[in-house]
Amino acid sequence: MARILITSAIPYINGIKHLGNLIGSQLPADLFARYQRGRGNEVVFLCATDEHGTPAELAAAKAGKPVAEYCAEMHEVQADIAKRFGLSFDHFGRSSSPQNHKLTQHFAGKLAEAGLIREVTEKQVYSNADGRFLPDRYIEGTCPNCGYEKARGDQCENCTKQLDPTDLIDPRSAISGSTDLEVRETKHLYLRQSAMKDQLDAWIDGKTDWPVLTTSIAKKWLHDGDGLQDRGITRDLDWGIPVKKGDEDWPGMEGKVFYVWFDAPIEYIACAKEWADAHGKSDAEWERWWRTDKGADDVLYVQFMGKDNVPFHTLSFPATILGSGEPWKLVDHLKSFNYLNYDGGQFSTSQGRGVFMDQALDILPADYWRWWLLSHAPESSDSEFTWENFQQSVNKDLADVLGNFVSRITKFCRSKFGEEVPSGGEYGEREQALIEELTKRIRAYEAHMEAMEVRKSAQELRAIWVAGNEYLQAAAPWSTFKEDPEQAAAQVRLGLNLIRLYAVLSAPFIPETSARMLSAMNTLDTSWPEDVEAALSALPAGHAFTVPDVLFAKITDEQREDWQTRFAGVRS
Ligand code: 2FM
Ligand code: ZN
Repeated sequence: MARILITSAIPYINGIKHLGNLIGSQLPADLFARYQRGRGNEVVFLCATDEHGTPAELAAAKAGKPVAEYCAEMHEVQADIAKRFGLSFDHFGRSSSPQNHKLTQHFAGKLAEAGLIREVTEKQVYSNADGRFLPDRYIEGTCPNCGYEKARGDQCENCTKQLDPTDLIDPRSAISGSTDLEVRETKHLYLRQSAMKDQLDAWIDGKTDWPVLTTSIAKKWLHDGDGLQDRGITRDLDWGIPVKKGDEDWPGMEGKVFYVWFDAPIEYIACAKEWADAHGKSDAEWERWWRTDKGADDVLYVQFMGKDNVPFHTLSFPATILGSGEPWKLVDHLKSFNYLNYDGGQFSTSQGRGVFMDQALDILPADYWRWWLLSHAPESSDSEFTWENFQQSVNKDLADVLGNFVSRITKFCRSKFGEEVPSGGEYGEREQALIEELTKRIRAYEAHMEAMEVRKSAQELRAIWVAGNEYLQAAAPWSTFKEDPEQAAAQVRLGLNLIRLYAVLSAPFIPETSARMLSAMNTLDTSWPEDVEAALSALPAGHAFTVPDVLFAKITDEQREDWQTRFAGVRS
């Protein structure tokens, strides 16, 4: 039994995620986790909310709540939606957890001991009225380029020009509106990534099986321009993990917190401890997933993320781990995704454009969305969601191919043989040919799933469903029954067994439907079809079943038009 550790990029706390976020990391990670569990492997699948940084503070201020309260509430909201989407995390943690505080401070201490942290004095804008330093986006003023009066210190939203806070005309605090601002000196910590360049370079060179999309991004950061730069890992914010060296205070760093991108990936590890703590497990039980000196050597660790996250996962986080000098597990395989666009534009959280996870579930069950998103995953290039394409895929793949197969065979059996697997007859040539085809296809499906080729896996699964339909069409038990009821019984027996087989194979994509199929087939047998012929005899003659309700309802043109209009604007 293999041991597989899976993490999905941890979503920012500031709001409900859209479908583009979902397909960029959490959903494919869930597909892989479910598949690996289905194959009998030991899996730990972790995710969390990313709760620190300016966006969290700003979102809380907008909601009129203290930031800790806002994060606690939004964590529950995200956890609930994740569950309703069938995301099967072993633990959904929080980067603000005490476990992550401790571990982040621990890593900082180890990096300092190794001489990999340097202190830098910088100039930053201080607001006397607010009694605090202002990060760039907390400063507003008039854009020197286009005259827009609400330009932010990092960028003008109106003309998109990148700005420095000192470029702004009439700068003021975005918190209080005060113009009583001054430039002050402040001290920050930098992680000396440049000193680790060769070590990181050699590590990446060893990753010959990684996609070029991943390694080329890492190589660009390592070699372009002046090469890998040191990275600021502290901020002048109230909300975050206080800067400490292990348990000790860090002189000169009072009132400062770690930068969100420093503590977020450390949460992957802290989350495992949260998981163990939540289940009364000992430290040894989570450490065997993360410490190579405590059993994690034989763990396969896979990370899932959108392409914008790749630099942090190929360079900054490995720099933290390697620099600590401690035997923590490094990622083995990193699966990254391009972007999903929405109906001719981009999904956008800040602009409320597209379909968000809660809205999606308001109109259709999770499996409809899971199937479309996974079968259109933006792997080799960006892909696009359109309502026409969604309607077409759902109606064809789910309703016509899979749903119809299940409905036809169960209803026919009920009408001619009653609600139990019929006895009599034998599997003949046609059935052998199907078994052969399925065996080939299932082995191909396994290979694609192992390789995390999401779209190819979906195509193969669909082909497996189609093969059953074609068999049924050609065998036509409704005709056979008239001359040879025994043979019709064998055909129907095979069809009913196919439903169980499809439920097992399809569970990673459409878990809720798969459970309904198994329950209609009245079986708990979810064993993987290592031997297809044997799998097609799992339900013996005489085994009772029920005809399930329609598995997938077709999307009508009217519904599609209604949703198209409803989701054309922006979410308030
Ligand atoms: O891009 C994002 O949504 C980030 N919150 C991902 C962080 S992943 C990791 F570092 F934990
Ligand atoms: Zn401008």
